[in-house]
Amino acid sequence: MTDKYAVIGNPISHSKSPLIHEAFAKQTNQDISYERILAPLGGFEATVRDLIAKGYKGVNVTVPFKFEAFNLATKHSNRAINAGAANTLTFNDEICAENTDGAGIVRDIEENLNVKFAGKEVLLLGAGGAAEGVLHPILETNPLLLVIANRSLDKALSMVKKVEVQQAHMLTTLTGQTFENLETQQFDIIINATSAGLTDTSLPIPNTIFARGCLAYDMMYGRETPFMKQARESGAQVVDGLGMLVEQAAEAFYIWRGVRPETQDVMQMIRNLPKS
Ligand code: ATR
Repeated sequence: MTDKYAVIGNPISHSKSPLIHEAFAKQTNQDISYERILAPLGGFEATVRDLIAKGYKGVNVTVPFKFEAFNLATKHSNRAINAGAANTLTFNDEICAENTDGAGIVRDIEENLNVKFAGKEVLLLGAGGAAEGVLHPILETNPLLLVIANRSLDKALSMVKKVEVQQAHMLTTLTGQTFENLETQQFDIIINATSAGLTDTSLPIPNTIFARGCLAYDMMYGRETPFMKQARESGAQVVDGLGMLVEQAAEAFYIWRGVRPETQDVMQMIRNLPKS
């Protein structure tokens, strides 16, 4: 019998997840279906309960429901707890929350791009849900320094504080600041986890932060954001979040099906799609 899965979000029509999971299923001979489901704002829980009643095996969850998904779950992985949010739910006798976003970005950067975090000076731009989701998995790779820079200082500092409470013996120096005092600093890896690209807004960051050979990674994909343009013009290696998208999906697929799909061809397939 075909096992049913879906991705829930609002909006959702743009989601590439069905294409990705269908490609994984074909490649690994898994009998699954995977669809997009638009949940009304305020209607996430009802949507999930309806899917469970209909025998769905799990869902991916995207904006703006990742926190609600976490709260609805009755069992949580450490990765979900660290992120405080869930992008993957599995339905068995419980609702199990996972978060594969962090694993997705680390795998894309370390395995696909062959850039290792260990010993590097890393800048994470943003302190919202997207940044929270990747913070712990990045720290687990032992960068030398991780600076969280955010427009609102309090959010950057509270992210730092939460980690300090949990990981007293961390190898990484972790600090939080605003964009203003980045003038004197340079980084090997810079990750844009702000949502500024959605509105085509530039970040107030100086061109001098991109060290020689720097990797500038934008978690958004599909078009060049002002951050990516600035990084490219400053000589950085620039990458968008398509690899992260496919890798987080592969991790979810592995949780659900117990087989790890190959991602390279699927990334290429998504990249070759006509622009919508
Ligand atoms: P997401 O789930 O995408 O992370 P979010 O939790 O609303 O969404 O967080 C958005 C992040 O982008 C925040 O770090 C936000 O900065 P503030 O915390 O100061 O609001 C950042 N952001 C959004 N628009 C921005 C802009 N124009 N300039 C700088 N930072 C911006």
